[in-house]
Amino acid sequence: MKAVAVIPGKPNSVHLREVPTPTLEQVANGRGVLVKVLRVGVDGTDKEINAAEYGAAPPGDDYLILGHESFGRVEAVGPKVTELKPGDYVAATVRRPGSSLYDRVGLYDMTTDDTYFERGINLRHGFLAQYYVDEPDYIIRVPDKLKQVGVLMEPTSVAEKGIVQAYEIQRRLRVWQPRRAAVLGTGTLGLIAGLLLRLRGLEVTAFGRTRRPYKNAELLEEIGVRYLNTAELSLTEASKKYGPFDIIFEGTGFSPLVFEAMEVLAKNGVLVLVSVTGGDRKAEVPADKINLGFVLGNKVAVGSVNANREYFELGAKDLCQAELQYPGWLAKLLTHPVRGLESFSELLKTLTEGKDVIKVFCEVAPL
Ligand code: BGC
Ligand code: ZN
Repeated sequence: MKAVAVIPGKPNSVHLREVPTPTLEQVANGRGVLVKVLRVGVDGTDKEINAAEYGAAPPGDDYLILGHESFGRVEAVGPKVTELKPGDYVAATVRRPGSSLYDRVGLYDMTTDDTYFERGINLRHGFLAQYYVDEPDYIIRVPDKLKQVGVLMEPTSVAEKGIVQAYEIQRRLRVWQPRRAAVLGTGTLGLIAGLLLRLRGLEVTAFGRTRRPYKNAELLEEIGVRYLNTAELSLTEASKKYGPFDIIFEGTGFSPLVFEAMEVLAKNGVLVLVSVTGGDRKAEVPADKINLGFVLGNKVAVGSVNANREYFELGAKDLCQAELQYPGWLAKLLTHPVRGLESFSELLKTLTEGKDVIKVFCEVAPL
């Protein structure tokens, strides 16, 4: 079958190649699920992998099949699979378990191992191919009615995890009633986080660096999220006017902003950090003030990476709710379809050079 791969360690090595088609028998105990890939989204991580800043090939191979944001349809299942059947629309989780305590109970997104396994990213092949095979434990059913937007499942799961982590932590407060949330960054993840927070009934303010007219600002307003441009109003100024924020969801990866967020976070508030920063930036911060504010305000900051199947399942439910509450909104995030695996170079190019890009994705096969 055809697959889009890179040679990890070699910059700009993305290419189309012929690889063996996976088979059901590859999975032990009759538990294989063969999935025909329909759509695969790409994001900054794919860009970094192609730039050889990140990513590793599975042991024994010198190439890595790209793609971690998958959507597909079950083609065949092994004799011991009861959870799924041919024809089901599905998305797959990205990480696979290592050996820590957390990995052993399904919380592989919380691994304490130094090595982690992620399909399409680290040590495991991804989904940007015609087919993949996996165990049903890592495959989540997506309702047929969501098929048009099913490729958003993976980024949604990442936002879900960050928000659920915040609520879990805040059970310490017994009576926590968050009112105001801030979302930093208005790319795909920020837009989805804004949506999920709106579905939970919060007043949401999103911050971006782009001046209006800005498509993402309009999209946010359609779901009742206030958009502010940080060039016009800083986070600190804005939180005096519209805050304080009980939850801040940081999705920009601009690390100095993390410390500004720590400062403006409400008393008893929670700051969720979800953006991976590859760089080595240094910043001067008001350390005493931040520390004092955290202590006197009982504040929390939490990092959140990846997502296990619980968050994919929650994601599927919330995407359904979103379709009911804001019909047609999710589809507007799918701005840049790229037809066919053969167009792999256009895929990554669109990500960097496209105009008004929200989600770039490959249409591997028709829905
Ligand atoms: C993916 C996550 C992954 C993270 C770190 C992100 O782009 O969406 O699933 O855990 O990169 O590799
Ligand atoms: Zn990603």
